[in-house]
Amino acid sequence: MICYQDDQRLFTLHTKNTSYQFVVDAHGYLLHTYYGPRVGGGSFAYRLREADRGFSPNPNAEGHTRTFSLDTQPQEFPSSGVGDFRIPVLEVENADGSRAVEMRYVSHSIKQGKYSLEGMPTFFAKEDEAQTLEVVLQDPVTGLRAVLYYGVMEELDLITRAVRIENGGTKPVALNRVMSMCLDLDRAELDFITFDGRHTAERHPHRRRLAPGIQQVSSIRGTTSHQHNNFVMLCDPDAGEHHGQCMGAVLVYSGNFEASVERTQFETARFTMGISPWQFRFMVEPGESFVAPEVAMVFSNQGFAGMSHQFHRAIRNNLCNGTWAHRRRPVLLNTWEAAYFDFDSDKLLDIAGHAAKAGIELLVMDDGWFGKRNDDKAGLGDWFVNEEKLPGGLAPLVEKINAMGLDFGIWIEPEMINEDSQLYKEHPDWALQIPGRPFTRSRSQLVLDFSREEVWKHVYAQIKKVLSSANITYVKWDMNRSLTDVWSAALPAGRQGEVYHRYVLGLYAMLEQFRKDFPNILLEGCSGGGGRFDCGMLYYSPQIWASDNTDAMDRLLLQYGTSFCYPVSTVGSHVSAVPNEQTHRITPMNTRAAVAMSGTFGYELDPCKLTDEERNTMSLQIETFKEYYDLIQTGLYERLTNPFEPGPFTAWQHTAEDGSRALVTVVTGMARSNAAFTTVYPYGLLPDAIYTVNGKEEMRGDVLMYGGIPLPNEGGDYRAMQFMLVRKSES
Ligand code: DGJ
Repeated sequence: MICYQDDQRLFTLHTKNTSYQFVVDAHGYLLHTYYGPRVGGGSFAYRLREADRGFSPNPNAEGHTRTFSLDTQPQEFPSSGVGDFRIPVLEVENADGSRAVEMRYVSHSIKQGKYSLEGMPTFFAKEDEAQTLEVVLQDPVTGLRAVLYYGVMEELDLITRAVRIENGGTKPVALNRVMSMCLDLDRAELDFITFDGRHTAERHPHRRRLAPGIQQVSSIRGTTSHQHNNFVMLCDPDAGEHHGQCMGAVLVYSGNFEASVERTQFETARFTMGISPWQFRFMVEPGESFVAPEVAMVFSNQGFAGMSHQFHRAIRNNLCNGTWAHRRRPVLLNTWEAAYFDFDSDKLLDIAGHAAKAGIELLVMDDGWFGKRNDDKAGLGDWFVNEEKLPGGLAPLVEKINAMGLDFGIWIEPEMINEDSQLYKEHPDWALQIPGRPFTRSRSQLVLDFSREEVWKHVYAQIKKVLSSANITYVKWDMNRSLTDVWSAALPAGRQGEVYHRYVLGLYAMLEQFRKDFPNILLEGCSGGGGRFDCGMLYYSPQIWASDNTDAMDRLLLQYGTSFCYPVSTVGSHVSAVPNEQTHRITPMNTRAAVAMSGTFGYELDPCKLTDEERNTMSLQIETFKEYYDLIQTGLYERLTNPFEPGPFTAWQHTAEDGSRALVTVVTGMARSNAAFTTVYPYGLLPDAIYTVNGKEEMRGDVLMYGGIPLPNEGGDYRAMQFMLVRKSES
């Protein structure tokens, strides 16, 4: 609910459990007053305080009064260059070369329903599930306008923000920095949690106390990156899974980003998030506008779990869309670690035969089926079937595979080009490169200039033809390098600072086209695993291959980190062969399955190389997963332990919202001699209900929660156990 009190010029945004408030002050500045637990009403404006602070300047209109300074007031969309020295949201270059900009209130409107942003993904809602507040601000000198969008999704406790900058003046303006949001908090004794890593080790949480100055994570790789995710948190120093205040913010965007928190001189904190300003310069001519992507925020008064549950619901129901958002996803077998580039129709049919018998529902032919793609040095850009490997094209192969009862999917990497390709011979200038400067290779490939419509449209037309040539029900959209040599032949020198963002817009345009033309194809995102695991991509692809690391023990870490924002239904996760390809570790097959089940679940191995016993195990695992599917995909996800802390095991739980069922999964670490007894403590059961544990013992919910489940110690490293708790009347 959005309330506006005209007499005080006060905006209060209420969700079910939170309230967010700001006020328009006498000068027209938007001053932030509150974000926290829901309140019934009232103004927090009494907390705005003024004092004469040395070296904090005063707006001209204050005359010689020295107590009001933009440098010390909490703001919604701070000005820059006129007295606020904290991290800005907006930096411009006006036509006269000056850099100052000051945004003051002009008008506002409140609408039913949730706004959307043209050409960019956003959370969506039914008309009666959300409200939108638009606040128009204007620079009194240049006429530059900022339209602040606030989306309020009450049931989800989700507040979204986005900004449109409109040039309402008569001269061009260059935008050098446009953050999507600013949140000025009245305290700085807070922890900043970010999700960082590297290729094959993505989204590991890092928590630190705010120190004076700016702390920041960002990506300048052109994509979200393996190195830092664009989801971050701020919380009380003692906040944990089920206690303390915390706030999470996620950018609905797939390119360069920046998330910064500044601990200020007066022990307040400013948080900003948006497109990275690095190499960013967007020209806005009179009458033109620029839209900064959406940020979604959740505040929780009861620790991390409450925040995660709201993000999980919102991403599942109000971001992922299309046919597959809620349909049961197929259990797939992907050929990458099974065959790499070395396959042909016969090999695929052998794999498919065993896969079908084991209960696999979808065979995914990964990289290597097109052009001259026999290794990773050639072929990208040539999206036609390699008939030496697949005689007659896709149709005959797919028909045979379908006849075995399997669906069929393929891998593509549309944004890339190899020098050794027909496309590069025809259009070398379509690759991002700077004239006169030797280009930079990565995985022996270059990035296509998707900021140019004719480029992505050409690639799309080729891919469309392939997808239309056979019964293809799944596509894995990969992206295997970061952007370098960013320069577009289609833009003049003064607009090269737009290429990174225009690239992302081109990508979204192609994804949108894909969605329209192939609404029934399940799209899985991927960027060398989790290099583009973000809400932007999740809008188009309800699942993303979470990492190129399939080792179960390493997956415990990255799936734990991923779970803070992203629901299980989005996490591409497979059982692979041992020794593991990435770590060479050997883990039991049921451990690999227990871990992969906290994701979309599938296999990434050659079933022909398994023993009969292993193939039987595979069938049983698939049956188990199907039985647990709804609970795993839509249940409340509880992190029972933190795998980054020392301890004998890692555990997590999926709980039905009504408490009727819960699945507790435990994975032990390295075995120790003469080890102490261990116990796992389920969470969130109905205290008075009687549960059966794996269909046997009957125990009260409270006894299970407070007494725990004793874990057997059978020795051996990396053991998995699952405990299915079913409320008795349901069993
Ligand atoms: C990177 C992906 O993450 C892998 O799963 C696989 O598809 C390869 N690319 C193929 O080149």
